[in-house]
Amino acid sequence: MGTLDLATLLETKEIIITCGPGGVGKTTTAAAAAAIAAARQGGRVLVLTVDPARRLADALGVAGIGNDVVSVDPVLFSQAGVEPRGSLSAAMLDTKKSWDELITRHAPNEATKNRILTNPLYTSLTTRFVQSHDYIAMERLYELHGTGEWDLIVVDTPPTRNALDFLDAPARMADFFSSRLLRWLTMPARSGLLGLASRGFAQVADRILGRQFLADITEFFGSLESMYEGFVERSQAVSRLLGDERTAFMVVSSSELVPLREATFFVDQLQQRNFTLAAVVLNRVLPSSLADSAAADAASAITAERDALAEALSKECDVDQAVAYRVLDAMVESYSDLSVIAHREALARANFPIGTASLVEVPLFDEDIHDLAGLLRLGEYLIAKR
Ligand SMILES: Nc1ncnc2c1ncn2[C@@H]1O[C@H](COP(=O)(O)OP(=O)(O)OP(=O)(O)O)[C@@H](O)[C@H]1O
Ligand SMILES: [Mg+2]
Repeated sequence: MGTLDLATLLETKEIIITCGPGGVGKTTTAAAAAAIAAARQGGRVLVLTVDPARRLADALGVAGIGNDVVSVDPVLFSQAGVEPRGSLSAAMLDTKKSWDELITRHAPNEATKNRILTNPLYTSLTTRFVQSHDYIAMERLYELHGTGEWDLIVVDTPPTRNALDFLDAPARMADFFSSRLLRWLTMPARSGLLGLASRGFAQVADRILGRQFLADITEFFGSLESMYEGFVERSQAVSRLLGDERTAFMVVSSSELVPLREATFFVDQLQQRNFTLAAVVLNRVLPSSLADSAAADAASAITAERDALAEALSKECDVDQAVAYRVLDAMVESYSDLSVIAHREALARANFPIGTASLVEVPLFDEDIHDLAGLLRLGEYLIAKR
């Protein structure tokens, strides 16, 4: 695939998955990409978001928990000075609810469903295990995509301890449900609770975990047994969707050294899995003027003309000369610090291996992005022609 700019990707792909290191602006970028696609390109656009900051969630109307898809009021676009060509919807990911819906869909009957939903192990697996979040995020994406209600779904991903977790979650789930481990775990259910084969294990587990816990495990996996096949098929389908040509990945990073290193690893892993890395967004980039030689000359001139400038400043503003000196020195020092950072980051960006992906730079805004106007402003950078 040749390089497609992000505007073309938003127009042609059905799913765009935003991923990258923690705290770099994944959620903001995903929402901005969806907002600008709905505003400028049209179509029915959905942003599936994981952990929007409170104010952003409020702005999108997805505050609170719940799995429902909500339409973003077109009036909000008008207020931001834009008449949208398409529509924007947003949904949060509620892990527990999504699991419940999945079980409800696959359970062969009401009794099995209830047995699973009320099993303590189930509750703990679905609410506490990070891996279960990763899987259900992708599963929910599959579900929403399957409805055919959206022309484009932009997906935000949670900050993972390990960048690969959600990529591999569907395949791991399929492996697990067809594994020997699972058969072994459910053995006691088939051979009467705590059958001979697992007696050794049972005795140890009993002492460490308590009998109830083991009974919960047995019952849980026993109840799930009727659903294994459905689960395996489904997980494989989710896995296929991630690798499908209708799906593309967008890696977001800042230009700082550590996030860039993490993002490089991510890019590498996407490529190893043959997923389509379509765009790299470098967010919160410092203005290029900071690395500009003319600006550096101006900063040197301040130092050279320090005495004259301090005198002029103290007269103009009617302040003590000592104050004027402090202000000038602080200016020069701040400029010099920022300039060093801007140079360092520009160098790191230049060395960032992006292959055929398109590179988008988004500046550091002077305030947080917490409303539709801010998202659209950021979105304009995402689709700007270079
Ligand atoms: N270009 C930008 N300029 C200024 N502020 C920004 C920019 N991009 C994002 N932010 C702000 O940075 C903060 C973190 O952004 P965001 O929540 O999108 O990051 P994230 O990568 O999703 O974090 P996490 O990994 O915790 O999910 C937010 O307050 C957001 O408004
Ligand atoms: Mg986030």
